[in-house]
Amino acid sequence: MNNSDSKKQAVARAAIDFVEYDDVIGVGTGSTVDFFIDFLKPLKNKISGTVASSLSTQQKLEANGIRVLDLNDVSDIPIYIDGADEVNNNLQLIKGGGGALTREKIIAGASKKFLCIVDDSKIVDILGKFPLPIEVLPMARSYVAREIIRYKGMPALREGFITDNSNIILDVNHLEIMEPITLEKELNQIAGVVTVGLFAERGADKVLVSSDNDIIELNK
Ligand code: A5P
Repeated sequence: MNNSDSKKQAVARAAIDFVEYDDVIGVGTGSTVDFFIDFLKPLKNKISGTVASSLSTQQKLEANGIRVLDLNDVSDIPIYIDGADEVNNNLQLIKGGGGALTREKIIAGASKKFLCIVDDSKIVDILGKFPLPIEVLPMARSYVAREIIRYKGMPALREGFITDNSNIILDVNHLEIMEPITLEKELNQIAGVVTVGLFAERGADKVLVSSDNDIIELNK
């Protein structure tokens, strides 16, 4: 296992301490969360179930015998556990590198607490070096791309990728996001945008960060 994977595995293991018996757990998407699912497996009969933020997560949970619930059938999700592509000092995030941003944002919004698990390569001063993913209705692709250029971003179609919701992703390069909440709100207003991969208005409540030597906790 390479160093990056070891750090992802370590932080995923640490997240298990935040899983309470009988709770419904919101489960994110990505390679860090895949490690988390491995650690969740032995607790599968202690929790009430999970809600999954993507079809791939749902498949992995089910393959491990972990109960997956429909979000519409769940009224209380005490904790959502997910990775991120970038994290700033205010615990605001860029997410969607895996293309699951819409369902991730829905479950983050529906959950009481959002615990984000990352390795130290994801920590930044200013969000935007990682291309900002935006999920867009296919017929609005060109229009949304033109609107984004007004924000000095360079949108690129994620080739050969369709989301779980049958939409496309534009990855926006060259953004230096000085005001994440404002940008998230403004981009959300563009007709045809389904979800912006900026998790600023509802960022994480706590971030666990793994480095070579230890795991630290960042709190709001
Ligand atoms: C999935 O759409 C993303 O939001 C992921 O949470 C993010 O890309 C982190 O993925 P890794 O854990 O694979 O780095």
